[in-house]
Amino acid sequence: MPASVIVGLQWGDEGKGKTTDFLAEQTTLVVRYQGGDNAGHTVVVGDETVKLQLCPSGVLYPHITSVIGNGVVVNPATLIRELDMLAAKGVDTTRVRVSRSAHVIMPYHVALDRGNETRLADEKVGTTGRGIGPTYGDRAWRLGLRMEDLTDEPILRARIGRALVDKNLILAAMGEPVFEIEPLVEQALAWGRRLAPHLDDTTWLVQDALRRGEHVLLEGAQGTLLDLDHGSYPFVTSSNPVAGGACTGGGIGPLQVDEVIGVMKAYSTRVGAGPFPTELLDETGRGIAERGHEFGTVTGRPRRVGWFDTVPLRYAVAVNSNSAIMLNKLDILSGIETIRMCVAYEIDGRRVDTWPSSGAALSRAIPVYEDFEGWQAPIHDVRALADLPEAARRYVTALEDHAKVPIVLVSVGPERTQTIERAFRPTRRRPAVPA
Ligand code: IMP
Repeated sequence: MPASVIVGLQWGDEGKGKTTDFLAEQTTLVVRYQGGDNAGHTVVVGDETVKLQLCPSGVLYPHITSVIGNGVVVNPATLIRELDMLAAKGVDTTRVRVSRSAHVIMPYHVALDRGNETRLADEKVGTTGRGIGPTYGDRAWRLGLRMEDLTDEPILRARIGRALVDKNLILAAMGEPVFEIEPLVEQALAWGRRLAPHLDDTTWLVQDALRRGEHVLLEGAQGTLLDLDHGSYPFVTSSNPVAGGACTGGGIGPLQVDEVIGVMKAYSTRVGAGPFPTELLDETGRGIAERGHEFGTVTGRPRRVGWFDTVPLRYAVAVNSNSAIMLNKLDILSGIETIRMCVAYEIDGRRVDTWPSSGAALSRAIPVYEDFEGWQAPIHDVRALADLPEAARRYVTALEDHAKVPIVLVSVGPERTQTIERAFRPTRRRPAVPA
């Protein structure tokens, strides 16, 4: 039962789409297990660029069934727009399956998210404003609406009515417009009619595929350092991007996971507020941002850029139990004279080697750097680790030493072919298990 989890090891935007794309050939099911339309990835098909927010990137392959798992929060308007966009490009969207249990992002969730950020002023999280936090909040509070409710008018009306009582009170207190029940019910029913053919019990889709011996890829959104439990709370998202989230949000048990591929970039980026010890506010940072096109896919916000930080890497590898790593965007560091790598922090005059669970401590962390000689030549055409400039090889080896996990794929450019594959192949097809 080959199931692979793909998980971001940093603050998201590590290029997980490229990893999925690389492994797509041998995969029959790709499952998104958390997050919502706060995520975004850009996929290139032929000479067309497709931006996806909800559908896993596998949707572009005719042999792959794309699953939006129960752990995802779905804005139906975004999903419908995405399905229409894909259909217009000739993509068969009937293979997009959406969990009946996935929660629905309603317009009042979006209004609450934005109203709350305004209220927080200088303390704001810097959310994507897509209603993610309030929707997961309602799910935990058992006031949420699930995708299946969109097809059941009496339940839908009752649940929206119940939710609106306190939502409108809060919105009014924030000075935001309140919502009427009827237009919301009409809207939600229209969404339900449009999306009904895609609704499914996705846990059984995953389980049946595994039983047939097919390869299932579980794709996380965001990254470990934005995890609700493991990131720098409250500057996190409201779900669990860590590998464990693939179990709860994808309908799979821990022992069914075959391997956990961590994805990281050769430097760090972060969108939104929160501590970022290695942040670069100088020309070097601006250069990396420019060469790496570090702008948010969803919001277009410039990403904050910093040197690679091995302190959270060691933590991420521990909580995700990674079996392999893909290192992306190594080419973006070409041309930098000295590359710095954070190996520890100094907090209140003491050296700290482990990721602090206290957000307050993290905000006082001063990075302790190890300096690496850079390399000047472009590396886009390199296809073997041995052919990398020696300085680049030393940098990759140092990252691997900190992670204590093999870096099996190194990306040296945006194209699928611009990838260095090491002897170890992270996924392999196994013989089918008889039903
Ligand atoms: P939310 O997920 O919109 O609630 O935002 C919470 C935090 O997660 C903010 O700092 C966002 O910038 C960040 N965030 C959410 N989605 C992404 C993503 O796909 N990439 C990077 N940061 C993200």
